[in-house]
Amino acid sequence: MESNMKLAVVIMAAGKGTRLKSQRPKVLHEIGGKPLVAHVIAAASRIVAPSEIFVVVGHQAERVKAAVAASGVRFVEQTDQRGTGHAIQCARQAIAGYENTLVLSGDVPLIRPETIEGLWRFHQAEQAAMTILTATPDDPTGYGRILRKSPASAEVEAIVEQKALSAGQHSLREINSGIYAFRTAPLLAHLDRLDADNANQEVILTDMAGLLRSAGERVTAIQAAEPVEVLGANTIAELVALDATLRARTASRLMAQGVTIFRPDTCVIDAGVEVEADTVIEPFVQLLGRTRIGANCLIRSYTVIEDCTLGDNVLVLQSCVLAESTVANGAKIGPFAHLRPGSEIGEEAHVGNFVETKKTKLGKGAKANHLTYLGDAEVGERTNIGAGTITCNYDGVRKLTTLIGKDAFVGSDSTLVAPVEVGDGAYIGAGSCITKNVPAGALAVGRARQVVKEGWAAARRARQQKP
Ligand code: UD1
Ligand code: MG
Repeated sequence: MESNMKLAVVIMAAGKGTRLKSQRPKVLHEIGGKPLVAHVIAAASRIVAPSEIFVVVGHQAERVKAAVAASGVRFVEQTDQRGTGHAIQCARQAIAGYENTLVLSGDVPLIRPETIEGLWRFHQAEQAAMTILTATPDDPTGYGRILRKSPASAEVEAIVEQKALSAGQHSLREINSGIYAFRTAPLLAHLDRLDADNANQEVILTDMAGLLRSAGERVTAIQAAEPVEVLGANTIAELVALDATLRARTASRLMAQGVTIFRPDTCVIDAGVEVEADTVIEPFVQLLGRTRIGANCLIRSYTVIEDCTLGDNVLVLQSCVLAESTVANGAKIGPFAHLRPGSEIGEEAHVGNFVETKKTKLGKGAKANHLTYLGDAEVGERTNIGAGTITCNYDGVRKLTTLIGKDAFVGSDSTLVAPVEVGDGAYIGAGSCITKNVPAGALAVGRARQVVKEGWAAARRARQQKP
């Protein structure tokens, strides 16, 4: 379908989303870790090239544009939002050169490309002027309803908005998804006949069905396989329900690929996350953003991983926080470890309890097992970082680097004042404050010498005796 230059896609995303009662424009509210409109763009991009996708923006247009500009879509401005019909009127120039136009709603995010393709194929086969994607959910309240010519007919007489339903029409269960295929010529020919003279007092695209019908054009409808795909997010409750559906879908996809997710309902897994087979994810884990996890890993409970890449056979124990970092094969993290952006944990390296790393490279087999801060540091292969080691990487103005070679041993409770280098195989005595470079193979001790005074305690107690 990629090559079909006859098809434009318009995504209506200019509305405010009054029912959400939010400062943020509706289409930028997120489900599955991604704005609503980004889901719709992703689905549409599987049908046509991004340059054939026109996103109608209006309310906080700059913010919406900035959020999705990287996708390569084009934008159409709807400065005042006078309804969905007006949104398409604003896109008139954009779609004029295309034979057909698919219209998607920026707040109907679970739509699958397969379903859009089904609508498009049906539209062509039916040679209709307008084809409406519909569904029959358990509760149709709030949606526009489909009035078919007769119950079994493929042809539609009109779409009746909730506000305009007559007493007898409340029993209509088939809803309008807000997703349509149009032949562009009849759409444009009748577009200016849409007005706000209706129960919604807006220029609504749904009126186009009746208009085309009365002009003798063919209007058809096709049902989506799963009603959930076409549900809209108009309230926070609807948004949260769609988020749960999307995450369940993601978990199912991963489980079908051989990933074990215990209690998937407790896990928060973003739509774009990839995990390979034989990895086990325990309850209450969050996998966010562009996270990639290899095969045969174990991610234990209460861990949050965002925008990270993990190799195979990685063990992440309970309650770790990992962000924008990489972890190589066989490494062991946690419990209670914090990998901040730019951490690169090498093969079979260990990062243990209450260890924080930031912009730090840990070589193969290196260990920092307890109570440590490593920032702007490089630690060589097999080097052991003792409990309580701190890199002093900040002088109040600049961030400075600590370089530690391979096979080195940093004694517990040492501070390394950057910029500083510790050579290969060097030892640092426990409790040292290291301010000068340590050559390879050397021992550095940077602490006050211990003084022992034999018998001192008894003498002191005697002096303290009350008279
Ligand atoms: C719309 C349909 C309804 C359908 C439902 C499906 C109309 C009048 N009604 O109702 O039949 O059942 O979707 O979810 O179309 N928008 C603009 N410019 C505007 C107004 C809206 O771009 O001037 C955008 C919104 O940002 C949104 C989409 O169009 O993404 C739909 O608008 P919304 O207000 O959510 O319509 P619904 O009440 O959901
Ligand atoms: Mg809506």
